[in-house]
Amino acid sequence: MSVAERSAREQRLANASALVDRCRKCEIGSIRTNAVYGEGDACAAVLVVGEGPGETEDAQGRPFIGRAGQLLERMLAAIGLAREDVFIANTVKCRPTFDDGVRLRNRAPSPDEMANCRPYLDEQIEIIRPRAILCLGAPAAKSFLGPKFSISKQRGQWFDGPNGTPVIATFHPAYILRLTGGEVEATKRLVWADLKALRTRLDAPEVSPVAEEPVPEQPGLFGS
Ligand code: URA
Repeated sequence: MSVAERSAREQRLANASALVDRCRKCEIGSIRTNAVYGEGDACAAVLVVGEGPGETEDAQGRPFIGRAGQLLERMLAAIGLAREDVFIANTVKCRPTFDDGVRLRNRAPSPDEMANCRPYLDEQIEIIRPRAILCLGAPAAKSFLGPKFSISKQRGQWFDGPNGTPVIATFHPAYILRLTGGEVEATKRLVWADLKALRTRLDAPEVSPVAEEPVPEQPGLFGS
């Protein structure tokens, strides 16, 4: 990856993030404290996609920084990836909330909110061109693989995602944190298997049918 290519991608992501900051396509765009565009390496091999920002993320404008984020970092570290090595995004960039009369509470993003936000996620995929997309939880996986996707039955398997990008899903770290008793270890074992499948794919040689960047012309180098 050339320095120029990296900085072009970073610039495109920064521009897109500024657009998301101004986005008011959904009501939650006006309720949120901060949009959470996503963050990480513009040239990451792995794009991690969660469901949507929670309270802490909304307050700070950064994805996965609460307890679920800490577990995500440990999950990534288990396969040799630092948080900075990947790009972390969500299916929606604003915190979906409802008012319970006392305070704003988290809720799942609605289909309309996910559809409104989808172009931003597609653009992130187009800019970053990851080698794999890791979906955390069923909503993220369903957004790529359709409503019939079953996280319990189909996690850990590879699917063709946007532009043929390989997609794999595992359990959401927030879900793991809610488990109790023997379910915790059993689920962590499944997640570990999914993460190993991701590591194996990353370690496989990259098959690239198209050269990444045009080879610059070097007039005269092989001339007479
Ligand atoms: N859960 C998510 O799905 N995304 C975040 O950014 C934080 C928690």
